[in-house]
Formats: sequence, structure tokens, C-alpha cells
Amino acid sequence: MTLPEFHLSSRAQSMKASEIRELLKLVGRPSMISFAGGIPDPALLSVGLFQEAWRQVFAGPSIAREALQYSTTEGYLPLRQWIVAHMRQRGVPADVDNVLITSGSQQALDLIGKLLLDPGSTVLSARPTYLGALQSFSACEPQFSGLDTPQPTGSGAPRLIYLVPDFANPDGATMSRAARHQALDQARALNTVIVEDAAYSALRYDGEELPPIAALDAASGSIESTRTLYCGTFSKTLSPGLRVGWVCGPAALIRKLTLLKQGADLHTATINQMVIHHVASADYDAQVARARALYRVRRDAMLAALEHHAPAGLHWKKPEGGMFVWLTLPDHLDAGLLLQQAMRQDIAFVPGAAFHSDGSCRNTMRLSFSLCDEAQIEVGIFKLCSLIGQQSMARAVGV
Ligand SMILES: Cc1ncc(COP(=O)(O)O)c(C=O)c1O
Repeated sequence: MTLPEFHLSSRAQSMKASEIRELLKLVGRPSMISFAGGIPDPALLSVGLFQEAWRQVFAGPSIAREALQYSTTEGYLPLRQWIVAHMRQRGVPADVDNVLITSGSQQALDLIGKLLLDPGSTVLSARPTYLGALQSFSACEPQFSGLDTPQPTGSGAPRLIYLVPDFANPDGATMSRAARHQALDQARALNTVIVEDAAYSALRYDGEELPPIAALDAASGSIESTRTLYCGTFSKTLSPGLRVGWVCGPAALIRKLTLLKQGADLHTATINQMVIHHVASADYDAQVARARALYRVRRDAMLAALEHHAPAGLHWKKPEGGMFVWLTLPDHLDAGLLLQQAMRQDIAFVPGAAFHSDGSCRNTMRLSFSLCDEAQIEVGIFKLCSLIGQQSMARAVGV
């Protein structure tokens, strides 16, 4: 598509639609076995509970009018109170002034970028990391750097460290307790902010529950002296479509984020917040338990199928939770090219280069196990492994 000749901002000029997203638009074909999207299984979305919540909101004229009216930028107070209790359970001594409701945690990332980044500022993150965070921050034209790269202190220090400590998107990795302390020490030494993205943290299938970095940060004082902005969401547990998430941190930063949100969308849809509040109050723990039970079985099915079918040279680690298994292929294979061939056989995944700001690591791929049942996982992994095996072999004999 050609753009009209208006003068676009430098940030808009540098934005490109990814070829992979274009290719993955075909994933909706009914015959497709998709390991591509990190999205909840539709069977887990509790239609009945949401219908009842909607009915209750409209049952009383006064609450119905409140639902249909403008509301405060900070968010629906009862929902913020529910989040405060949830954060306290996770060891973060929050109060309502420490919580801002956002339109999904994606909006929290966008607002945090605007809060902290100027063109040329440095963002530190793991490599690979969540593509959507890179996209949000990119609008502020920062430079990205890996966690291990030595950084200057003072005015040239990184402005934020972005981390997904639990079952990260894309590589499923979990930061140990020691690594969380280390990240906090690094942030203190650089006098910078940690953005803790907790999108998947409710979805643990085994291993020890670990405290969020925000809790470790607050353990040495009150939340007001912390440097962690914790981004939470209901997308992976209750519903992604209602777009309700939150950011929790020191009140002074939350106030600034509230002003930025005011300029972006005034507030998150009031009725969506009310409905999420109803469902979370009635059934959050049970919903999470159902999701954990279903995804644990699927994760195990994917790991078993890989054990069974993987050709030599394929590597992966067992994720303790979340939705993803990260595969490393032999060095010479390109997952982007492999995707084109896999899609012809109705198999989809996301090539790993998409999760690197510099497009490197072309021999990696992300497989999501959240959407396919065990039989589909077995067939899909068998076909994918056969394809990888053929490509490795073709290369070895110089075809
Ligand atoms: C790591 C991570 N953070 C944030 C998000 C954004 O989620 P939402 O805006 O639906 O809360 C996602 C979505 O997939 C994600 O994987």
C-alpha cells in the first residue's frame, strides 16, 4: 500500500508491519494446527459467568447508569480494591493509590514508555523478549540493549529494565529468586526503574511459587520507596477481549501514569471493569485452577511429543508455566523459511527472530501449547519435527 505524501513522524516512518504477522493471518484456516498465538483456549472463557455479571450490572438502574457513564481515569474503585488484595497476597503492600487500571497490560507498557523514555534512551531487556513490549517502547525511539551489556551510570544510564520473570513470552523462562534479587541490585546500581510484566504469573504448573520483584523491592521499605512498576492483566486468566489490566507501583509514578492515560483514552471502559470485577470476585481462583489444569496437560503433551519425535540438534527447556516452549534448531536452519513450508502443511508457529529487536537468532521458534488439544499437539509436533529433520538432512547432503 502506498502512503499519501504527508510528512510522517520519524517514529511512524520507522514502523513496519511484520511479514510474519501478515503470514500468520492465515492461521484462522480450520485445518490449521496453530502453535502461533499466545492466547487462551476459548473453552476456558466462562460465557455463563460473564452473562450473569452483565445481567447484574444492568439489573439496577443506578449501577447501569454508572456503567454507561464516563468514569475516573484511575479506574473502578471496587476493582482497584480487588487488585490491592491480590497484590497483597503476592507480597506487595499496595493501597488503592498504587493501582491504575489500564486497557490491558499492553497499555501499561505504552504509558510507561511515555513516562520514562526520550529518543535515544536505553531500554534493557532479556533477549529474546516480548514483541509487544518492544513495539510499545519503540514508539519513543529508544535504543535496546541486553541485560548483560555493561551500562553507564548517571545521565546516560538505562531508563528502564523490562523483565517477564514468570514463564516469559517467548522463551518460557522463569527467573530464579537469586536472579530477581540480582535484577533489583542492578536497577538500584543504575538508579533505574524495573518494569515487571506479570502477564503469565498465575499460570504455574509445577515448581516453587516465587515472589514478584515488586515484593522483593518493597521488602526493604514501603511501596513508596520502590522502583518497580508491576504490570498485571486479566487477559490470560479471565478474558483478553475485555481489555482490563493494571499497573501497580509507587503512588508518585502512578499519578504521572494516570495523567498520561487521561491523554490517551480518559479511562478504561467502565462496564468492562465492572464485569471483570464481578467475575474476579466470584470465581478468580477457580478460573485460574481450571486454566492451570488444562494447560499443564497440554504442556506435558508437547514436551512428550518433542521427546518422541525431535531430530538430533533440536533443543528446548521445560517451562514451569505459561503458554510457550522455545525451540532452538541447528544453527544453519532459518525458522522464517521453515514457517512458509510448515504453513503449507497446516502447521503454524512464530519464528524466534520476531522477538529480537535486531532480528537475530533466526534458528529459534516459539511454540504455544494453549490452543491445541493433545491429539493436535501430537500430530503437529510430529509434522514439524519431520520437516526440521528433512531440512537438516538436505543441508547436510548439500541439497
Ligand atoms: C508478556 C506479555 N505482556 C503483556 C501482554 C499484553 O497483554 P494484555 O494487553 O492483553 O494484558 C502480553 C500479551 O500476549 C504478553 O505476552
